Amino acid sequence: MKVVFAKPALPKDGAFALPVAEGCKLGPTAAALDRRAKGALTRALAASRFAGKLEETLTVLAPRGLACSRVVLVGCGKPEAFDALAAQRVGGALVALLAPSGETAATLAADGLAQAAAPAVLAANIALGAGLRSYRFDKYRTTEKREERPSLRSLTLLVEDPAAARRAYVPLASTAQAVGTARDLVSEPANVVTPQAFAAAARTASELGIKVEVLGARKLRELGLNLMLGVGQGSAHEPQLVVLRWNGAGKASAPVAFVGKGLTFDTGGISIKPAGGMEEMKTDMAGAATVLGVLRSLAARQARVNAVGVCALAENMPSGTAQRPGDVVKSMSGQTVEVIDTDAEGRLVLSDALWYTQDRFKPRAMVDLATLTGSIMVALGHEYAGLFANDDKLAEQLLAAGSATGERLWRMPLDESYDERIKSDIADMKNDGGRWGDSINAAVMLKRFVGKTPWAHLDIAGVAWATEDGPTAPKGATGFGVRLLDRFVADSCEEELTTLARPRSRR
Ligand code: BES
Ligand code: MN
Ligand code: ZN
Repeated sequence: MKVVFAKPALPKDGAFALPVAEGCKLGPTAAALDRRAKGALTRALAASRFAGKLEETLTVLAPRGLACSRVVLVGCGKPEAFDALAAQRVGGALVALLAPSGETAATLAADGLAQAAAPAVLAANIALGAGLRSYRFDKYRTTEKREERPSLRSLTLLVEDPAAARRAYVPLASTAQAVGTARDLVSEPANVVTPQAFAAAARTASELGIKVEVLGARKLRELGLNLMLGVGQGSAHEPQLVVLRWNGAGKASAPVAFVGKGLTFDTGGISIKPAGGMEEMKTDMAGAATVLGVLRSLAARQARVNAVGVCALAENMPSGTAQRPGDVVKSMSGQTVEVIDTDAEGRLVLSDALWYTQDRFKPRAMVDLATLTGSIMVALGHEYAGLFANDDKLAEQLLAAGSATGERLWRMPLDESYDERIKSDIADMKNDGGRWGDSINAAVMLKRFVGKTPWAHLDIAGVAWATEDGPTAPKGATGFGVRLLDRFVADSCEEELTTLARPRSRR
């Protein structure tokens, strides 16, 4: 969707939106319009239950005396609570209302927010929310009629200082685009996004100045990533490890590393999953897609940080060559793992990828993302992702970035008392600790492959895919983690470099 910032003006054609806070006091533009329309807005307010609650909308069609086709009042909630996240929800609510309406253009007068601390930043966030909510994956719909498709194509935000809003919007827009990349990859079916196809998509990140390396099965064998190879050995598509590097800081600065689970499809393998709902397992590469998105976002806004992204790609299939329950596999780290359940494949793939990443890059911090366990959904539902960490400071920084972006995390336990559960009778550990606390059992295994590196694991199984529309994401792939980790880098990794790097304007 096209986004334009302009000086306040009276409506012309299209939809004209007015933010209204709880209490329904009209802002200057809204009041002026109401007078022109001979009180149509105040009458509509009086005739309805509209109260200005966040995301609430009230439409007045074809108001007399005005050139626009409709006026939309959009609730902003309590003025004191109107922050960047609330602004994004306002943008999202407006798009949700207008996208199917037939309108092609909308204008929002942001002057009702004049009391707010930074109206330009809030306007930029309204635009961000609108952009995120207007996402649609429709490349495989060939028979949809024009009138069934979303009509809304452009959004103009009227603000006192359009230049300031535009400046605030630039980094938000590049992050939103990276969210789109992640959503696209997760939405694609597994016959299209194989490990090879994902790697090819990752290669295009070089256009942003990202260094891209792809390690194929031969190289992985040479390096000894046998846990990862074992998971992929039943598939016709060999595993691939994609390594992305963004160098935005001095050579001496240790990188922050992001590692993503990239199962392009998870049938469960020989421990096969039930048929019902199995199609959702095309999303089992969401962690890897987010890692690619984060690196793209950092590069697009020229973040002053050294960052590494590792996408561990494989397909988990049952076949004559697939690994069996009971197999014992030696990891790259040298530790051996008894594969009790071939469906607990994420922790296998990630263990090798984490070890490889800390061994090669010696990162100052490492964060992995994985649609790892159904059990995290049992614990947290779809509201929070699970956070596991061996480092309190890193955990705090991630929790803060989560609150700031609305991609919320909830910290889970990770201590020695769980070690007993993954004891094997034959190997150093097993990949299944039973039903109870499985998210934790999985994290306890991962912890054994990070050495002394400050590390955090985000179990995103409950948040990567939405079965219902959300405030800033239509149902489907959410791109969860791109905004969170972009923010984490901006607030906790770039700061320390201010004395090293050249000055550049920051958010
Ligand atoms: N990819 C799944 C976890 C998952 C489930 C993600 C539902 C998204 C939605 C993972 O590989 C898996 O199969 N986990 C098993 C582990 C068990 C066999 C120990 C699970 O959670 O049931
Ligand atoms: Mn599985
Ligand atoms: Zn899986």
